[in-house]
Amino acid sequence: MANEKKLFIKTYGCQMNVYDSERMVEAMGGAGYTTTDTPDDADMILLNTCHIREKAAEKVYSELGRFKGLKAEKPDLKIGVAGCVAQAEGEEIMRRQPIVDLVVGPQAYHRLPEMEAKTQQGAKALDTDFPEEDKFEKLKGRPKAKRGPAAFLTVQEGCDKFCAFCVVPYTRGAEVSRPVERILTEARDLVERGVREITLLGQNVNAYHGLSGGGDSWSLAKLIWELDKVDGLERIRFTTSHPNDMMDDLIEAHGTCKKLMPYLHLPVQSGSNKILKRMNRSHDRDSYLKLVERIREARPDILLSGDFIVGFPEETEQDFQDTMDLIEEVKYGQAFSFKYSPRPGTPAAERAVIDDATASERLYRLQALITQQQREIQDSMVGREVSVLLEKNGRLEGQMVGKSEYLHSVHLTAEDAQIGDLVRVKIVKSRTNSLAGELV
Ligand code: 5AD
Ligand code: SF4
Repeated sequence: MANEKKLFIKTYGCQMNVYDSERMVEAMGGAGYTTTDTPDDADMILLNTCHIREKAAEKVYSELGRFKGLKAEKPDLKIGVAGCVAQAEGEEIMRRQPIVDLVVGPQAYHRLPEMEAKTQQGAKALDTDFPEEDKFEKLKGRPKAKRGPAAFLTVQEGCDKFCAFCVVPYTRGAEVSRPVERILTEARDLVERGVREITLLGQNVNAYHGLSGGGDSWSLAKLIWELDKVDGLERIRFTTSHPNDMMDDLIEAHGTCKKLMPYLHLPVQSGSNKILKRMNRSHDRDSYLKLVERIREARPDILLSGDFIVGFPEETEQDFQDTMDLIEEVKYGQAFSFKYSPRPGTPAAERAVIDDATASERLYRLQALITQQQREIQDSMVGREVSVLLEKNGRLEGQMVGKSEYLHSVHLTAEDAQIGDLVRVKIVKSRTNSLAGELV
């Protein structure tokens, strides 16, 4: 097509941004855009941004700085900022970086094609509304192209928890659940296009309470059981969960629903009751540990993953030790840990930060412990049989890479297998960040 335009989109941050970027690509497809892998031959550059920590937000500005030369060479090039930095900073982005033509928040990106048209008239476009209409419905259905075997599907967005450190309730807004039927339609469509594993996404995914056609409200567990009936869908995952929303039916499903994978991301942030209170987490150390016990009763082999923040204001060495003890007790197969980063507009940002070197040193110790646990759990897989969903070819001829039910990356030689196959594999080796296996 002669008037086909090229879109370069770069995604930062969480899995929901990955999903959002896919939807933005689809929306822009309707406006004549196809994607390109390099900014150099793009007609439009879109950064889908993350505001969760200061570093993530600053990256956006340095990236924008790098596009200055390109914009000078190609004045018709349109540059847009989407996602949570767009939501949080709005017009300020255009003030700080005048090469930006378009700023669109995460709830308004179904309006992207109109906004792009406005920039073609030489105007700037800004939309950080939380509109009434359902953006998922406004976006055209995903094109019927074939897909990889694993896909994300957003079922819930926003957060009402207001942890004292977190920008999400401000950038993504209040908790909203998508209606059941729309999710089921999207899931069936994904499966028709080759998807065999769906990860249900939400900032508080287990707080899901979507309306069904019958007008009643469904829990996440009920939604999972309905997805369980979809032929061709083999695996279901969900992320991210809040401990307080881990309801009985969801815990039970981990023991009884075969398609629900034995992996749960359940952030606790800190093991100190004092810090948890100051973080406004509304659960304590004991309630979290009891919850973990109940989940493991339902599904003894479940692999747990967590998020931790170190160096929160007023965190003492003892508070930090409480976190380390909790980690020792739970034993995580995977974890994400961060040094506390004050975010403008959040209550914790009013408090004095602790010494940076102390925070860095704590982060180092915590990460060493997590790495050790991760490695121990990986090593314990050697000799075991797992199922692997093949997702891509490996670097060597005949080699393939996929994920086990525990989300471990597994490399194996599988000459006759195809991407999308679900194969039985015996684990023979544990490497730094992956496992090696053989077909059984
Ligand atoms: N500083 C450091 N880490 C943060 N997170 C959220 N906000 C902050 C912040 N201000 C972490 C939490 C959360 C994860 C997505 O990011 O651990 O679970
Ligand atoms: Fe942020 Fe807390 Fe909501 Fe998670 S639960 S998105 S950390 S406010």
